[in-house]
Amino acid sequence: MITLKKVSEMKAAVSKAKTKGLTIGFVPTMGFLHEGHLSLVRGSRNSADVTVVSIFVNPLQFGPKEDLRQYPRDPDKDSQLLEREGVDYLFFPVEREMYPDGYKTTVEVADLQDKLCGRSRPGHFRGVTTVVLKLFHIVQPDLAFFGQKDAQQAAILQKMVKDLNLDAKIRILPIIRDQDGLALSSRNCYLDIKERQAALILIKSLREAEALFNAGERKAAAIISRIRETIINEPLAKIDYVEIVDLGELEPVDTLDRDALVAVAVYIDKTRLIDNLILKAKVN
Ligand code: PAJ
Repeated sequence: MITLKKVSEMKAAVSKAKTKGLTIGFVPTMGFLHEGHLSLVRGSRNSADVTVVSIFVNPLQFGPKEDLRQYPRDPDKDSQLLEREGVDYLFFPVEREMYPDGYKTTVEVADLQDKLCGRSRPGHFRGVTTVVLKLFHIVQPDLAFFGQKDAQQAAILQKMVKDLNLDAKIRILPIIRDQDGLALSSRNCYLDIKERQAALILIKSLREAEALFNAGERKAAAIISRIRETIINEPLAKIDYVEIVDLGELEPVDTLDRDALVAVAVYIDKTRLIDNLILKAKVN
């Protein structure tokens, strides 16, 4: 694996691969890698000739009171993991390489960015779309891989690619979980043992929602109430939101007669965790 820190080096490597007719698969990350990230890397390895992974803790997507400073980092371990997965290039820029002095430009996907997580994290998705657009220009991927774990991020990036006629095809891969069901997240390392146990309330409530749905419940309000009741019973948990929305525009759905996303965000003490589940209207 070749690690590149400069935009110019990354662009040159990609151009060279492209002149050979090779396809580029890209996995953007903020590092502190886990099996969720690695599933995306494997997805890319399976379908593109060259796999590029980026590690960049993007300051633009953190609010002033958020955890930019504390965000976990372990670049040596990350490199080892990526090397072992057969990644071709690791793009690992410093902040000034991505945002030099005088940097001014942002891009945003209106409306979608203000829903769900956007309500408690103003500016977050503008930071995500801006950095991903920059990374796409640098890496020029044919395929780019994202996790369903961040369902709103995935929906917003798909919209950006469509609206801005970008060439990259976006692939969304399933949520990877620990054995007990907790969705893997770099932020899980903030949880102590008690909090980690309490965090299982997210998947527990989603599984109950799925069971209700499978038993024939089609009113979103009834399913939302059940999820809320379950989470409220966990003393360490505080609900940020529980919503059922359509998959494209993320608009609330009343009746579950088409595929819908059940999305939850919960604070376990100071750690904000998200999880989600797709309810399929028709089983094939
Ligand atoms: P990060 O949180 O590091 O996640 C990188 C990618 O891994 C995202 O596409 C995310 O959805 C995916 N991912 C995280 N946990 C996952 C899990 N348990 N199962 C499957 N996929 C998972 O998301 C970001 O970084 C940033 O916002 C980024 C897109 C890199 C822009 O800065």
